[in-house]
Amino acid sequence: MAAKKRKDENEGQEERARRLAYIGTLATGLAHEMRSPLNAMKLNLELLKEDLAYVAPEKREAFARRVALIDREMEGLQNLLTEFLAFARPPKMQLLATDLNELIAQVLELLEPELKAKHIEVVSDFQKGLYPVGLDQHQFGRGVLLNLLKNAVEQIGEHGTITLRTREDDERVSVCVEDNGGGVVAGKEEEIFKPFESTKEHGTGLGLSIARRIVHEHGGDLTLDNHPGKGAIFTISLPKSKILEYNE
Ligand SMILES: Nc1ncnc2c1ncn2[C@@H]1O[C@H](COP(=O)(O)OP(=O)(O)OP(=O)(O)O)[C@@H](O)[C@H]1O
Ligand SMILES: [Mg+2]
Repeated sequence: MAAKKRKDENEGQEERARRLAYIGTLATGLAHEMRSPLNAMKLNLELLKEDLAYVAPEKREAFARRVALIDREMEGLQNLLTEFLAFARPPKMQLLATDLNELIAQVLELLEPELKAKHIEVVSDFQKGLYPVGLDQHQFGRGVLLNLLKNAVEQIGEHGTITLRTREDDERVSVCVEDNGGGVVAGKEEEIFKPFESTKEHGTGLGLSIARRIVHEHGGDLTLDNHPGKGAIFTISLPKSKILEYNE
């Protein structure tokens, strides 16, 4: 019974994610389609402006004002569409050979005031001279590392330890983000990677699904080693072979 309920819940979540993605595609398509009629309208409005001299003198001022208003509103709409399309289109990955130890240190700097205020200690256990991996530094830094670190901070609340470990072997480079905040609720280890799965009052539940998508786009894996009651270890693992391909 419980398994069936969980299955139904999973399907509900997946259906919601699918619908959202579908709406996203529709909205992007619609925005595209709206651009050309808008351009045509704007062009014709310019032509109307040129004909202003033919309007009866007593009506000219009011006419010009209305034309200017339409012009402004259309420009606003054009800007809105441009911004929407820029937002909707996932940015292309820009891979740069990256020292992961350094990228982690940069992301930690962003969190430093919060970590200090909450008395959270960070232990950096970095392997020296780490193989430089091909990463989109912005997406990986914000979308993966920051999301994992924020989750760890939120889970700990106050007074705790986050351990960051970097390692490499012949084939892979890995980063572990470990916290002692009690771990993920037992049985929810896979669910938490799905969109909209959140136990927080103001959480969107998108953090981990975004993080995993970005890691996958880099050819890697994001996994959880859960210790209920103690803490969680999230591990990012990136294959070197894939990375070499990217660096070519
Ligand atoms: N380090 C962690 N320890 C224990 N549970 C965690 C940890 N990280 C994530 N979780 C659980 O996984 C859920 C999903 O995490 P996710 O980052 O996807 O969303 P969120 O943190 O709830 O919301 P958002 O990231 O959008 O603010 C969390 O609500 C929490 O229950
Ligand atoms: Mg989160």
